Amino acid sequence: MTHAADRSLLRAPLHALCLGGALLLLPACGDSGGGTDSEGDSDPSAGGETGAADSVPPTDGDALLAWLEAGEYLGWHAETAPHDSAGPHFGTVRTYVNQQLFDSLEAGDATHPVDAAAVKELYGSGDAVLGWAVEVKTQADSADGDGWYWYEKFNDQMFADGEGASLCTDCHVGGADYVLTPFPLQ
Ligand code: HEC
Repeated sequence: MTHAADRSLLRAPLHALCLGGALLLLPACGDSGGGTDSEGDSDPSAGGETGAADSVPPTDGDALLAWLEAGEYLGWHAETAPHDSAGPHFGTVRTYVNQQLFDSLEAGDATHPVDAAAVKELYGSGDAVLGWAVEVKTQADSADGDGWYWYEKFNDQMFADGEGASLCTDCHVGGADYVLTPFPLQ
């Protein structure tokens, strides 16, 4: 809806500010403490079907959307509840990481292996999942973000569907091999 799109445009300058000084500011930006108090067990997007902990999302927009709508990532490691995003990620978010990324984050590896992946549910200001942001490592060398596939859809708007999307990588380059979510997952 145009409503949500307008909100996201309004949010953009805030995040630019957040980043403005230095990427070092990101952790502070991320410490929002807010979040909703929804029951941790309910997954609004769930179709009852959960995929394996080490499943890998397709890196094609149409196939990926079907995969997301089927809830194939719901068997991954997850944050306990939706919380405010520290980035331009449409209000409340909840991040899931597959086993490959979880193991790599836990080991503190400088680079993540091929097939490491994260899915972030985008809730906007409500309780329903209105879209997703996804990243999937497609080659060992992150190559300035080209080694990651990036996808983001919110309501009917597409923001990325491809490798090395600069809209995403410019910000994510400040993370642990492009991953910004605080670990251990919160
Ligand atoms: C201005 C900074 C910024 C931009 C631009 C950005 N993100 Fe993020 N992203 C974040 C932050 C901060 C997080 C950590 C969780 C949170 O607070 O939302 C995050 C988390 C994520 C996650 C969860 C895994 C992780 O890396 O932590 C995915 C997936 C993701 N973003 C995808 C994308 C995609 C796809 C795009 C481009 C369409 C994008 N992001 C653009 C700041 C950004």
